[in-house]
Amino acid sequence: MGMTGAETDDSAMNDLPPPAPAPVTLQEAIGLIDRQFGVEKLLNDEGKQFVEPYYKQSVLVYEQFYEKYLSVEGCMHFGLNFDGQFSRQGFYEQARGVKTIIRQMGNVERVLEVGCGKGLNTIRLAGLHPDITFTGLDLLKEHVQKATARSSDLPNAQFVQGSFEPIPKALRGVDVIFGVETLCYAQDLDAVCQAIADSLNPGGRLVIFDCFREDQKGPVSDEMRLATRLLEVGWGVPAGYRSSEEWSAALERAGLKMNWVKDETPYALPSVRKLQGFAMRFFGDWKVRMQSRILSDLGRRNAVTAILMPLLFEGQADGPDATAPGVSYKRLVARKKA
Ligand SMILES: C[S@@+](CC[C@H](N)C(=O)[O-])C[C@H]1O[C@@H](n2cnc3c(N)ncnc32)[C@H](O)[C@@H]1O
Repeated sequence: MGMTGAETDDSAMNDLPPPAPAPVTLQEAIGLIDRQFGVEKLLNDEGKQFVEPYYKQSVLVYEQFYEKYLSVEGCMHFGLNFDGQFSRQGFYEQARGVKTIIRQMGNVERVLEVGCGKGLNTIRLAGLHPDITFTGLDLLKEHVQKATARSSDLPNAQFVQGSFEPIPKALRGVDVIFGVETLCYAQDLDAVCQAIADSLNPGGRLVIFDCFREDQKGPVSDEMRLATRLLEVGWGVPAGYRSSEEWSAALERAGLKMNWVKDETPYALPSVRKLQGFAMRFFGDWKVRMQSRILSDLGRRNAVTAILMPLLFEGQADGPDATAPGVSYKRLVARKKA
């Protein structure tokens, strides 16, 4: 079972070997990746659609490592630590952000979470709002089954298997739609934005927490561009990340108005640095790599994304390897005209 408290110490990790020092530059990180996975081999999978196999092959990684040692039970997203100090409480911040929107809107009756995974956010919110009906939609039957099992005491929460591409018509007519680290998987951006707009009631809100592409801005190095592509391959993001500007423009084309876009990257850093620590146990210790052979290919590739995340988010300010970040973590809020 994963922990559910707000532990800040690393005692849960005492039964793991210590991590090797983190790479200082992208070049170093890419070198480590190349040795264990082969960069060219990884890039052969660029643009392929393997969301389902990725999540099916990553169950052990999420449940035996991510949830057990780092996040909280049922969680499949990054934490947001606003004080810069890692705490497990940070994994509830996305749900707290949605709660604030619900409170500000008033008279919300129905909420839809797209790509709900194992239901952490929806279960949290449904427990706090017994008078609101919550539906979680996810592509994977296994995620929906786990979310349903975890919410048996919540009559106002239901979970449905299906894709948000497009959102099933039966789920339309909601006051809030939100998605945490899932809409990046959209293949047809305009179609997804239109389905969101059509599914919202007048005056409704959309809230997105996700990674966005930054590499069209500022001086971005070749290594950073390559690392961004490796991130997309590692997580099976078939059409690649888009920038928040591309998302905002597509949402406006669909008839929504942007409320705001907030850069949350600094707050995601404490949890992605911890995640990188897992990767450094893999890259730095042959015994861990031997043990990881029980994982299938796509499961092992979580080491690729984990080693890169802090470097992608931070870029490098100085020196010969200086580069702007390739990826950011943002919160987008849009509304439908009342
Ligand atoms: C990184 S996980 C995040 C899960 C959850 N939002 C959370 O915060 O824990 C991404 C989720 O998106 C789901 N997903 C990906 N593409 C989808 C689609 N087209 N329709 C519905 N769910 C999708 C995956 O199955 C996975 O559960």
